[in-house]
Amino acid sequence: MDAKEFREFGKAAVDFVADYLENIRDDEVLPSVEPGYLVNLLPSEMPEKPESWKEVLGDINRVIKPGITHWQSPNMHAYYPTATSYPSIVGEMLASGFGIIGFSWICSPACTELEVVVMDWLAKFLNLPEHFQHASEGPGGGVIQGSASEAVLVAVLAAREQAVVSYKESHPEMSESEIRGRLVAYSSDQSNSCIEKSGVLAAMPIRLLPAGEDFVLRGETLKQAIIEDKAAGRIPVICIATLGTTGTCAYDDIETLSAVCEEFKVWLHVDAAYAGGAFALEECSDLRKGLDRVDSLNFNLHKFMLVNFDCSAMWLRDANKVADSFNVDRIYLKHKHEGQSQIPDFRHWQIPLGRRFRALKVWITFRTLGAEGLRNHMRKHIDLAKQFEQLVIADSRFEMVAPRALGLVCFRPKGANEITTQLLQRLMDRKKIYMVKAEHAGRQFLRFVVCGMDSNESDIDFAWSEIESQLTDLQKDQSLVARKPGNMADLTEHFQIHLTNENSTQEKSQ
Ligand SMILES: Cc1ncc(COP(=O)(O)O)c(C=O)c1O
Repeated sequence: MDAKEFREFGKAAVDFVADYLENIRDDEVLPSVEPGYLVNLLPSEMPEKPESWKEVLGDINRVIKPGITHWQSPNMHAYYPTATSYPSIVGEMLASGFGIIGFSWICSPACTELEVVVMDWLAKFLNLPEHFQHASEGPGGGVIQGSASEAVLVAVLAAREQAVVSYKESHPEMSESEIRGRLVAYSSDQSNSCIEKSGVLAAMPIRLLPAGEDFVLRGETLKQAIIEDKAAGRIPVICIATLGTTGTCAYDDIETLSAVCEEFKVWLHVDAAYAGGAFALEECSDLRKGLDRVDSLNFNLHKFMLVNFDCSAMWLRDANKVADSFNVDRIYLKHKHEGQSQIPDFRHWQIPLGRRFRALKVWITFRTLGAEGLRNHMRKHIDLAKQFEQLVIADSRFEMVAPRALGLVCFRPKGANEITTQLLQRLMDRKKIYMVKAEHAGRQFLRFVVCGMDSNESDIDFAWSEIESQLTDLQKDQSLVARKPGNMADLTEHFQIHLTNENSTQEKSQ
């Protein structure tokens, strides 16, 4: 393909994406294909001769799009948002156009330096403590990782290596392998799966401490676990707290956790993968309490801040602790400006050697939307979630499971877990909206998350009418089953709920 053809293909692809995003409401959010659909449609070997881009683009519409789950649809309410925006898409395109791998300053000075600039912009935008900025006097700074999982793993590995070094010094009688065998880390039983996985990858057990009824991990629970472990000869290394858990967007108590971590010299990392964007909002300033005492934190711009995947910001209070832990060099990686404070060698702050030019899409997004645009986007999501919450509260057949937090509403139809399961199954079969379930203390519930790039009030009304009408149909079907001869003895909790709600409907209409 030459430059002329690239121009044609590229422009057609941009039109394709703009059409796709503009008309995304026309498609069901979930695809209708069965496993193996694509493997069966495509040849088993690559073409020997080049094909025209027009044919390829045609096939994207014909065979790829039907297998896409439309994450950018306003009818997507599962997991957490995976952001995108037009400026960010252009940023990705330009980064691919430059085609660089910026593992050191000389490999593309703009790649390193733009990352320093945007990470400091972001730290200021989020009102983070000043010591996290590159521009501060101290050894702190921010870096862009691919995902929250990578950021957490980097923190866990660095904390582990720091603990081994300091324990070797204070306990020269112990062998390194003995020390490594005694290390232990902590998080809450509400933390994301990637936290537990980081323990597996770091060969260090992570104790998932009970967060309790309100889903919040507090200092006293951590302190008790640390005291137990120390008494048993174990070496506490790191606590990974969460601001905005995946299940219910609960916030661990960073102030009490940080006090315990300081007392026992344990690294404190905060995973704020989704909720971190809200640090920028004055009305959410409580969320920032205690952040001045944490060692590291991460926040996914690709969740709440209109930058598309992958883009996970991570800040370190003392970046040397990470760089020293991971610094494995070769002569071919050296360059004459190495070691200068303005130009961190970000390859020592991360797992891979190569680095994508992610700062470009961040910079373009920040500049074209402005701080105001970013705040407006987050506030819009929060307002839409409030709208949904009111609809849940107004319908006596449903109950809230946890307080609404940012753009997440956790709720369930009253009664047995089976009703939640069946309701979700119906919604999934209809493919008009997409949500997932979660569970706490044996109670299953639905998570409704505002996700879309430009969701609006009527999208929320649409989702609600889908949910409540499907519950109505489910109740009707269950009452028919219960009325069949032979089933009368088996009057289930479901049926009782239906009767209760028929009564409340009558009350409403009276
Ligand atoms: C609180 C939390 N942490 C971590 C993750 C994992 O994020 P990533 O896919 O960027 O690794 C998620 C994903 O939703 C999350 O909700």
